[in-house]
Amino acid sequence: MSLEAVRAILASARSIAVLTGAGISAESGVPTFRGPGGLWRDYRPEDLATPEAFARDPRLVWEWYDWRRRKIAEATPNLGHYALVTLEKRAPDLTLITQNVDGLHPLAGSRNLLEIHGSLWRTRCLSCHEVRDNRELLTRLPPRCACEGLLRPDVVWFGEPLPYELLKRSIRAVEGCNVMLVIGTSSLVQPAASMAGEALSRGTPVVEINLDPTPLSERATHFLQGKAGDILPRLIA
Ligand code: OAD
Repeated sequence: MSLEAVRAILASARSIAVLTGAGISAESGVPTFRGPGGLWRDYRPEDLATPEAFARDPRLVWEWYDWRRRKIAEATPNLGHYALVTLEKRAPDLTLITQNVDGLHPLAGSRNLLEIHGSLWRTRCLSCHEVRDNRELLTRLPPRCACEGLLRPDVVWFGEPLPYELLKRSIRAVEGCNVMLVIGTSSLVQPAASMAGEALSRGTPVVEINLDPTPLSERATHFLQGKAGDILPRLIA
């Protein structure tokens, strides 16, 4: 598959939907979840990323999130993140849907962004329900709100629904786009995993960029195998 053909599709598209996963941040040094070196090799999601785990042991869950926050605080966006910012500036309409909670897309400058799994950099109070930006180095775990309620990371855990408004806007973007890019996601976690299928069923071309084949690759209109930080800048140069 030549990059030329995909470049032409992108250049003529009025509306572009992009879905990203952990793979786009891999070159920034942020661990992915699955695959070699993936977080779910050493940790069990049911111990750390469910509401039940948090109810059982909020300190343990926070230790894991605190560790990730400290690691990601040192990371910077890579060429893949920046290429998507360039594409957004150039395209008449682009919606970036990300499963990532690392905050690297907004740091790079992406504007029309839907962080459907939330953000590591926000907390939510279980008592007063206030959601607020929180980039502080946490000194006591688990952290507490000014109202003394328990704070949780404002992320979506397994078994929890996605925020309704974000899901609605994502579906609208996928249904209305002329091309969809799917970048650095294993395409295993719902509902994000079925978004590309929705585009394909409408006859919309789907371009997948991934280091390795995924369950989507055979069905995708174009599968570009390689690193996002390498392919995206060449695609969007
Ligand atoms: P995964 O860790 O499941 O998949 C990462 C994907 O990125 C894999 O398909 C890799 O082949 C690919 N990849 C790795 N390095 C890459 C690179 N440099 N360039 C391009 N692709 C690369 O991550 P997600 O699909 O994002 O959810 O995982 C989805 C959700 O599962 C996460 O949001 C998280 C996780 O459990 C929750 O915590 C709710």
